[in-house]
Amino acid sequence: MIATAGLARAVQGVYTALMPVRVYVGPLPDWLDHERLLGPGFVIEAVEPGWVRATASLERPQAADAQARLRGIGIGGRTIDLNVSPRLNRKLVRAARTDEAKRRRNASVGFTRKGARLDDEGKISLTPESLALETGKRVGGCTVVDACCGAGGNAIGFARAGNRVVALEVDQARIKMAAHNARLYGIESEIEWRCADAIKELPSCRADLLFVDPPWGADYDRTRVVLADLPFLEAVLQHAHRFSRTLVKLPPSFDVSELPHARPEAVFGTGEGDSQRVKFLLLEISSGIDSLGVGAE
Ligand SMILES: C[S@@+](CC[C@H](N)C(=O)[O-])C[C@H]1O[C@@H](n2cnc3c(N)ncnc32)[C@H](O)[C@@H]1O
Repeated sequence: MIATAGLARAVQGVYTALMPVRVYVGPLPDWLDHERLLGPGFVIEAVEPGWVRATASLERPQAADAQARLRGIGIGGRTIDLNVSPRLNRKLVRAARTDEAKRRRNASVGFTRKGARLDDEGKISLTPESLALETGKRVGGCTVVDACCGAGGNAIGFARAGNRVVALEVDQARIKMAAHNARLYGIESEIEWRCADAIKELPSCRADLLFVDPPWGADYDRTRVVLADLPFLEAVLQHAHRFSRTLVKLPPSFDVSELPHARPEAVFGTGEGDSQRVKFLLLEISSGIDSLGVGAE
């Protein structure tokens, strides 16, 4: 009798483990590629202007994976809430977190050329080579001013994609590093290097596109970043009206309502471990628009 009850419990346990669970995710910005972020099977519904939520019935391992990747991260200025019903067991949740941490190590590669140089700041802030090249291709054969080129990730991507580039950088050691890295790609002489404070230099720069990848600050990982956290960006944007277009690279958690006239896009990684992760936002501001949205000058 006792053996029969134990067997029934075991069968019930297996049955429960195989039953799909309901997953609710949101809020998510409506301009995001939801399928890329979430994976297949989600139904998207608008909840308020500009924001959606997603629901799906998923197998438990998939639900645990989504929970490990998404719960609590900030995209577009709001924190993603993710609920699973019924709740997942702790062992499954822990295993999914471990898998996610392992996967993250296999992220998009910085520079692939041997001999590339990076300082500590560069290791954190370099735009991965594949994404910098993609960004370069989409701006389409123009003259770009990179307001703060760092170790050269984006400046090199723009030049490799056939754009003319003026690269500004306030730190002399870093601009030398960027020129060295550009040499590895055979394009050092195609970029005009200027070691200067961008705020002073921008008024004398002529270009179609202003590109800004500002320092994101030490705790850029928090779930909401605002303009006040990025004083260099605020100062650079005062010059945006001089250029036909401005493209800004920002942390995924940047509150996009702070730049109401900008068109945001989420850029995902290209590595096995970050292809479903938003690496950064690109916000495009067109000419004639007051970038800070506080009244045209
Ligand atoms: C996020 S990093 C740029 C990373 C670069 N996009 C890449 O992919 O390698 C920001 C850079 O802004 C530079 N910077 C800070 N203030 C500046 C200023 N006033 N003028 C020019 N560059 C500045 C920093 O030295 C730093 O190298």
